[in-house]
Amino acid sequence: MQVYEAIIKRRSIRRYKQKPIPLEILRKLVNAARLAPSAANLQPFKYIVVYDKNLCDKIFKTIKWASYLKPSWSPEKEERPTAYIVFLNTQKDNPYYMRDMGLAAENIMLTAEEEGIGSCILYNIDREAIRDILNIPGEYQIDSMISLGYKGEEVILEEDSNRVEYWRDENDVLHVPKKPLEEILIINRFPYQ
Ligand SMILES: Cc1cc2nc3c(=O)[nH]c(=O)nc-3n(C[C@H](O)[C@H](O)[C@H](O)COP(=O)(O)O)c2cc1C
Repeated sequence: MQVYEAIIKRRSIRRYKQKPIPLEILRKLVNAARLAPSAANLQPFKYIVVYDKNLCDKIFKTIKWASYLKPSWSPEKEERPTAYIVFLNTQKDNPYYMRDMGLAAENIMLTAEEEGIGSCILYNIDREAIRDILNIPGEYQIDSMISLGYKGEEVILEEDSNRVEYWRDENDVLHVPKKPLEEILIINRFPYQ
């Protein structure tokens, strides 16, 4: 798969098949994160790969899914993620760590896409519960997670200037609006008023 194709195809996936992801592929995803650009090359992150079923069940309870969906929505038991990658910031004073996080996360998600694996960044999480479950030492700051699993849903991309909220239609299919290219693109400079 070409990179641009993976970019176009990637959507946040929140329903997964229960087929396990081989550890070798999870290691590949972290390797992709490791090689992302990093401000001053400070490389602030460590990554926990979680794929143990019992731990995944506990981690699942710490997540708030898809907050635009009302009433509140969560994957069914047979749709849950089969793995997670937890981002641990080791440099609390590094002012650029969030930028690094975004770049590393996209490397993970695009590599996952190439492997047919769906992913979703999760920031709305109970960090203290995760710290307990995974025995994370106090010096590590839990930033966010990525949920992973072979795709159990197809998401429809909508060109839409007027809304940012995604929605599920009458068939429970997720639609995600994105602003059209012409709305966000400026070529060379703003036109004279
Ligand atoms: C920084 C960040 C935090 C996010 N946190 C959550 C989250 O806590 N729960 C969730 O279900 N989705 C979360 N998402 C996924 C967004 O809802 C999703 O990226 C957005 O709706 C656009 O959809 P797309 O990823 O399919 O393009 C997060 C995305 C980003 C970039």
